[in-house]
Amino acid sequence: MTERLTIRRPDDWHLHLRDGEMLKGVLPHSARDFARAIIMPNLVPPVVRGDDARAYRDRILAALPEGADFTPLMTLYLTEDTDPDDVAEAHASGLVTAVKLYPAGATTNSASGVRDFDKVQGVLERMAEIGLPLCVHGEVTHADVDIFDREAVFIDEVLDPIRRATPGLRVVMEHITTEDAAEYVTEATGDIGATITIQHLMLDRNDMLAGGIRPHFYCLPILKRGTHRPALVEAATGGNPRFFLGTDSAPHATDLKENACGCAGCFTAPIALSCLTEVFDEAGALDRLEGFASLHGPAFYGLPVNQATITLEKGAPIDFSDSVPTGAGPVTVFNPGRPVHWRVAS
Ligand code: NCD
Ligand code: ZN
Repeated sequence: MTERLTIRRPDDWHLHLRDGEMLKGVLPHSARDFARAIIMPNLVPPVVRGDDARAYRDRILAALPEGADFTPLMTLYLTEDTDPDDVAEAHASGLVTAVKLYPAGATTNSASGVRDFDKVQGVLERMAEIGLPLCVHGEVTHADVDIFDREAVFIDEVLDPIRRATPGLRVVMEHITTEDAAEYVTEATGDIGATITIQHLMLDRNDMLAGGIRPHFYCLPILKRGTHRPALVEAATGGNPRFFLGTDSAPHATDLKENACGCAGCFTAPIALSCLTEVFDEAGALDRLEGFASLHGPAFYGLPVNQATITLEKGAPIDFSDSVPTGAGPVTVFNPGRPVHWRVAS
């Protein structure tokens, strides 16, 4: 008998859709399986003001395939010059769902991010007042901190001090990759959530670096030592509502990944739900998939859960398509390198 699982339609609480031809090529893959997504603002130039977010949202809506049921939840890119009134207005009008903090230099297109955290204190206080969540790329960027330690150091040096200085600020620690982060989020007092990606649930740094370098597994925060992965799987599958799915699907044209200086980001959107279900199946936690993928996120953001459902079906290993064509060049689809048996049936 075929094993089937029906859950409420999921949302993706961390997604890069890019713009222009890339947006048109990748958007259908998220819109097929996800009802809503938090849209990352790290375009060039970044989505900084409410007006930028409105224009970007309209471009996303215009790029949606006919009949798609997908709502982009917009974010603003926090800079040292961000105007608290502009943020508050964009929130009050329902245009933006969160503000994104990138430490300057932390990742793809983060040059306009924050260097001096004192300069954004006023905006953060305003956000705490109005209940607007801050999504955080949690890595320090100093050259003297090893890339594998950047998340753990960020918690102590930046995240915890910001949260103490700004009581009431609602924070999502994005794409957590370490046991340290899972523990911090589990134990912290106050309003905090965390997203976890597909690649960090399935892979560790050996998958990326042992026996040859695999550029399509390179993302930021970087895959960590294998001891961290079980802690992330436990966080995702354990039923704690602070943890929810954020794929961080981050498309780059294949030639920019397979490059002497390759870009960071895994394009997981087309296979995200198949892979996620496999992880929950392996953990014996299929009954908790709906919580992680479809319930915890809306609860954190104070949004209704989706009424529609999707059905996943277990069968022979799925064929991963190698790449998705876009007007900005082909984009290689994430392939975890092991069999995945679940497909989205309807
Ligand atoms: C993201 C991108 O390419 O925009 N890359 C990544 O490796 N995750 C940026 C980010 O979320 O850090
Ligand atoms: Zn991201």
